[in-house]
Amino acid sequence: MIRIAVLTASDRGARGEREDVSGKVIEEMVSAIGGEVVDYSVVPDDLAVLKESMLKMCEKGADIIFTTGGTGLSPRDNTPEATLAVIEREVPGIPEAMRQKSLEKTPHAMLSRARAGIRGKTLIINLPGSPRAVRENLEIILPALPHAVEVLKGRVEDCGK
Ligand code: MTE
Repeated sequence: MIRIAVLTASDRGARGEREDVSGKVIEEMVSAIGGEVVDYSVVPDDLAVLKESMLKMCEKGADIIFTTGGTGLSPRDNTPEATLAVIEREVPGIPEAMRQKSLEKTPHAMLSRARAGIRGKTLIINLPGSPRAVRENLEIILPALPHAVEVLKGRVEDCGK
C-alpha cells in the first residue's frame, strides 16, 4: 500500500465555495498503483499555510503528497514556492515529464510551474488545479511512482536488477 496525502490549494475551495473534484480524481487514479489516501486537506493559496500543511503531512508519514492547484502565474499561486521551502532535494524529471507530454495536448502546459522533490522519505509532487489537468498529468507519471516509493523507502538497492 502506498500512503497518499492530497493537499488541495484553492482559496474558493477552502471557503467552501467550490467542490474539490481534483482531489477525488487523484484518489480514484492512485488506486491503480495501490495508493490509498490517508490524509487530505483543502487549504487557501497561502504560502505559510501550504508549507505548514506539507510539513504536517510529511510528519504523519505520507509516502507521496500530491498537491493540486496554485502552480500558475497568478499572484496567489504559491504552491511551487511552498514546495521548494519544504523539500530537501528536487526531482526535476517528474515536472519535466509532465510539461513535455502535456504540451502535446495544450500549449498552456508551459504555464504550470509545478515542482517535485523529496523531504525525508516523502515524495512531494505538484499537480495543476483543474480536474482535467490532474488526470492528464497523473497519467504521465503514475507508472514511475511505485518504483520511486520503493527506492525512497530503501527497499531497492540496485535499480538495474
Ligand atoms: N496540463 C495539462 N496536461 N492539461 C491542462 O489542461 N492546464 C494548464 C497547465 N497544465 C493544463 C495543464 C493551465 S491552463 C495552467 S494555468 C497551468 O497548468 C497551471 O494551473 P494551476 O494554476 O491550476 O496550477
